[in-house]
Amino acid sequence: MQKILVARPIFPDVIERLKQHFDVDWNNGDALPADELARRLADKDGALTAGDPIGAATLAAAPRLRVVSNMAVGYNNFDMAAFNAANVLGTNTPDVLNETTADFGWALMMAAARRIAESGQWLRAGRWEKWSFDSFLGADVHGSTLGVIGMGRIGQALARRARGFNMQVVYHNRSRVAPAIEAELNAQYLSKEDLLRRADHVVLVLPYTAENHHTIGAAELALMKPTATLTNIARGGIVDDAALAAALRERRIAAAGLDVFEGEPKVHPDLLTVPNVVLTPHIASASDATRRAMANLAADNLIAGLGVGPRAGRPPNPINPDVIGKARS
Ligand code: GLV
Repeated sequence: MQKILVARPIFPDVIERLKQHFDVDWNNGDALPADELARRLADKDGALTAGDPIGAATLAAAPRLRVVSNMAVGYNNFDMAAFNAANVLGTNTPDVLNETTADFGWALMMAAARRIAESGQWLRAGRWEKWSFDSFLGADVHGSTLGVIGMGRIGQALARRARGFNMQVVYHNRSRVAPAIEAELNAQYLSKEDLLRRADHVVLVLPYTAENHHTIGAAELALMKPTATLTNIARGGIVDDAALAAALRERRIAAAGLDVFEGEPKVHPDLLTVPNVVLTPHIASASDATRRAMANLAADNLIAGLGVGPRAGRPPNPINPDVIGKARS
């Protein structure tokens, strides 16, 4: 039987599925440090990860490893150049999380705009003594302009919801989406700078790459309206968190909603002390149904990638399909 490592805690029924095909080493504890991960991968044919960094050194320490299945749509934890050089297949879990993640983007954006978290904390602190006409005045979402940076599948699901709120949609993306999609979403393409100047609520839904590092920093925040909100459901590192905390503290923008952070699970200490930010611990895809779908899809990818099960050799979501069928190097 081939051997696999499941590097993170995961639904036990998915472990049972994997056990039908593999000898499973399950780390049902904290994320493994790099040396321990490499040690546990040394005799494995495959692995199921969730954000664990896999680079050239880890692959070199695991000469049998042929497939690494990430339980996430984002795979910036994989060094894909190293995967390609070693003929190791990487897979991810796109699509099953689009709608759930778009729902959450709206939840964060609306919470930021309408000051839900900030006013809730104030109430819990026992500070609510009287109704006041100017308590926690926020920004309207309906009728405003939504700015989506990253118009992929999740960005489109997010933009589609704007119709019910009678919003204008502007977007920025590496390349323009097809005219039919622009028409369906009633979305106008803008440069990043023009979008930041125009939008009332900016939502980031782009993948993290070296080029996207600090896509939003001090200069970009300076372009935004003082009444605007910024929501990040994409990846830590896309926003310069220190610059954002300063802009929030000085009210250069009104509020932010953040689900992802530079260096998470650590959070920049300044973000923990500014009141006008809604903070959540990387849970945008965390509905019960969607996390189960992601875990099962990650298992499907691993099973098929390692050449067993009903889709043997045809994993649903290969990131680098060119390596399929090539010998490990
Ligand atoms: C979550 O962050 C994902 O990439 O799926």
